[in-house]
Amino acid sequence: MNKPVDPALMQAAEAIGSAGTHPMDAHWMPFTANRQFKKAPRLLTRAAGMHYWDDKGRQILDGAAGLWCVNAGHTRPRIVQAIQAQAAEMDFAPPFQMSHPKAFELAERVAEIAPAGMNKVFFVNSGSEAVETALKMALAYHRVRGEGSRTRLIGRERGYHGVNFGGISVGGMVANRKMFGTMLGGVDHLRHTHDPVRNAFTVGQPAHGAELADDLERLVALHDASTIAAVIVEPIAGSTGVLVPPQGYLQRLRDICDKHGILLIFDEVITGFGRTGQPFAAQTFGVTPDLITCAKGLTNGAVPMGAVIARQKIHDTFMQGPEHLIEFYHGYTYSAHPLACAAALGTLDTYAEEGLLTRASEMAGYFAQAVHSLKGEPNVIDVRNFGLVGGIELSPIEGQPTKRAFDIFLDVWQQGLLLRTTGDILALSPPLIVERSQIDQIVEMLRGAIRRAA
Ligand SMILES: Cc1ncc(COP(=O)(O)O)c(C=O)c1O
Repeated sequence: MNKPVDPALMQAAEAIGSAGTHPMDAHWMPFTANRQFKKAPRLLTRAAGMHYWDDKGRQILDGAAGLWCVNAGHTRPRIVQAIQAQAAEMDFAPPFQMSHPKAFELAERVAEIAPAGMNKVFFVNSGSEAVETALKMALAYHRVRGEGSRTRLIGRERGYHGVNFGGISVGGMVANRKMFGTMLGGVDHLRHTHDPVRNAFTVGQPAHGAELADDLERLVALHDASTIAAVIVEPIAGSTGVLVPPQGYLQRLRDICDKHGILLIFDEVITGFGRTGQPFAAQTFGVTPDLITCAKGLTNGAVPMGAVIARQKIHDTFMQGPEHLIEFYHGYTYSAHPLACAAALGTLDTYAEEGLLTRASEMAGYFAQAVHSLKGEPNVIDVRNFGLVGGIELSPIEGQPTKRAFDIFLDVWQQGLLLRTTGDILALSPPLIVERSQIDQIVEMLRGAIRRAA
């Protein structure tokens, strides 16, 4: 049936040229201001290395690694070839009671770069699925070993763990939670670690706030350890605006978990695969969790894929009872999808050949200096950084929270820069191949836009 097309959308569609000649009303876009977008679309049509190109042929410097995922830069040959070859060889293999060789090869490769002792890898298709999987693994682990009373899950304020029900329950972003009812029961939260009064403009890890980990002791005192299965935190909270863990905080959390038999889950969907200067933030911060969730950089964003990396003892706990029985009733049709495995293997090869999993540690000093040079610019109330992640916090326009950052996002897009905003925070996470001159470019474009937005 022909529907009348909104003239404003037609106009918008015409404005976007040959790549976007379709009306834009059918696509309900995720986490997007749909009406604003469709009036002035931002369409990406090509990418290579550090850059995108839009539908008008403009080159856009990628200051966000797409969405924190394209760590090796765009359309890297090994990854492209791996996907192409796999698509021609075998499209799909059922992952339940069947598999294919690349799934095992990839699991070994991930285990090789994971923290010592974390050597069991369960594949999923996204960060959100990795989180659900890790939470279920934690609950089932305790039950299998005879402590089925451990049903509580502890998250943290300002945490982001994807958008599924488990993830938003343990997450702490109000906009992602408030519309969706009561979510999972039996969930509690630690306070977040953001403390601008004591820590504003800290370079690297803030000095103050390790004691906030003691919130876990309070929750143990309230609920009793025998009811708590796991705690989940992002080592660096990305989506709520780059909150770097205070010195000693993660270790203290680890110690309290150990004391009470609580599993510690690091959500490394953003920090995994080199963002902090080591393959995983667990290694950078010297704290080993029981479970790691990852996604994004696993395939360099080229094919959807996530994973949970588990300590051997967790996996082994499930391996009991008659051998013909399924040990963990969980998985997805596309777990360890052949295309995703091929993309991930090509990605890990690229990371290894170019030393990308540690490059952020080499670039961190330069990057820190560059982003902290924004201190003193109008409305900049904090600058935070670690590895190749930066957060610039702006004072909100009175009565219009998020608008200042969004205006800057639109301004730099016009100049040819992609970044990410959350609230009134500008987040930077360039691909790990970024050069110093490109860091300068990013920061100078930002500086101009921050001044114009004043
Ligand atoms: C820490 C963290 N966990 C989970 C997710 C969800 O990942 P996905 O969007 O792939 O479901 C994200 C996404 O940004 C994330 O940053």
